[in-house]
Amino acid sequence: MSSHPTGQFPAYRPRRLRQSPALRQLVSETHLHASQLVLPLFVRSGRKIRHPIGAMPGVFQLSLDEMVLEASRAHSSGVPAVLLFGIPDAKDARARGAFAASGIVQQAVRRLKQELPQLLVITDVCLCEYMSHGHCGIVQRDPRGAKILNDPSLKILARTAASHAEAGADIVAPSDMMDGRVRAIRAELDRSGFADTPIMSYAAKFASAFYGPFREAAESAPKFGDRRSYQMDAANANEAMREVALDIQEGADIVMVKPALAYLDIIQRVKTEFGYPTAAYAVSGEYSMVKAAAANGWIDERAVTLESLLAMRRAGADILITYAATDVAQWLAGK
Ligand code: PBG
Repeated sequence: MSSHPTGQFPAYRPRRLRQSPALRQLVSETHLHASQLVLPLFVRSGRKIRHPIGAMPGVFQLSLDEMVLEASRAHSSGVPAVLLFGIPDAKDARARGAFAASGIVQQAVRRLKQELPQLLVITDVCLCEYMSHGHCGIVQRDPRGAKILNDPSLKILARTAASHAEAGADIVAPSDMMDGRVRAIRAELDRSGFADTPIMSYAAKFASAFYGPFREAAESAPKFGDRRSYQMDAANANEAMREVALDIQEGADIVMVKPALAYLDIIQRVKTEFGYPTAAYAVSGEYSMVKAAAANGWIDERAVTLESLLAMRRAGADILITYAATDVAQWLAGK
């Protein structure tokens, strides 16, 4: 590793290499590039709708026409990919809107592939936005409480992923955290002729308070209980390695750690232990905190955003999912 003979050679002066921007750039170990960015988008029905999310300034629920504009702005700034979340018109206890051929995400994918064929379209595969109760799986209620049923949920998730691939999704991204869902999705994709569609699994997804603003954006807050019986406990790093190992065994092509900034240790371990393409999701709460502090004039939005993303890259993330993707791409281009 980086052992420097400072003992025998006391003249090492680190500041020598910090004297000018060009010198600093020359020895920079980590680089941010627009090609690493993914922009999440929230899509809904209607026309000319840009419904603002209170806690996420600059983020909107978009009708398909507005989604195309937003995606096109991102793409022309250098962002190669979007991640789609759907807000359906109706929810039920079977998440029918999640896998309907005419579902909101399926429509959005077709539209994007038609209008921006070069843009990579990644779809979030989950049920919470489509379930009347807001949980990520099928719920069984009894007098003592509610249980999220694992295996019965797998079929719906697999069907949902296949319907996204059928619509033209380039990558499917399961975020539900049911056990065995990557295997179930891989099998269903292979069976339905999509053996070449990659899976980016939310492999180490923690039960996090940082998701608060997203649940307003996606209208997916659970109506009762919480997600702690399926998402991970923030205390656990070894368990995160087991989750990632399992998803890789089951066929994940890209693994994700989420949230990002408070979980840099997990990102680093995942990258060094598995060497797989690794994504970091800078979630809604991370974005909101920066926006709120910046709006008060307390921090420099651009500098803090770039420094945070650089930290994720330094930890080992190859792919950065961020609501600030378009701004970041423009900043990196010097705009
Ligand atoms: C759906 C899902 C969530 C996020 C991504 N996919 C919310 C949750 O698990 O409650 C969070 C994204 C964010 O906070 O930006 N399961």
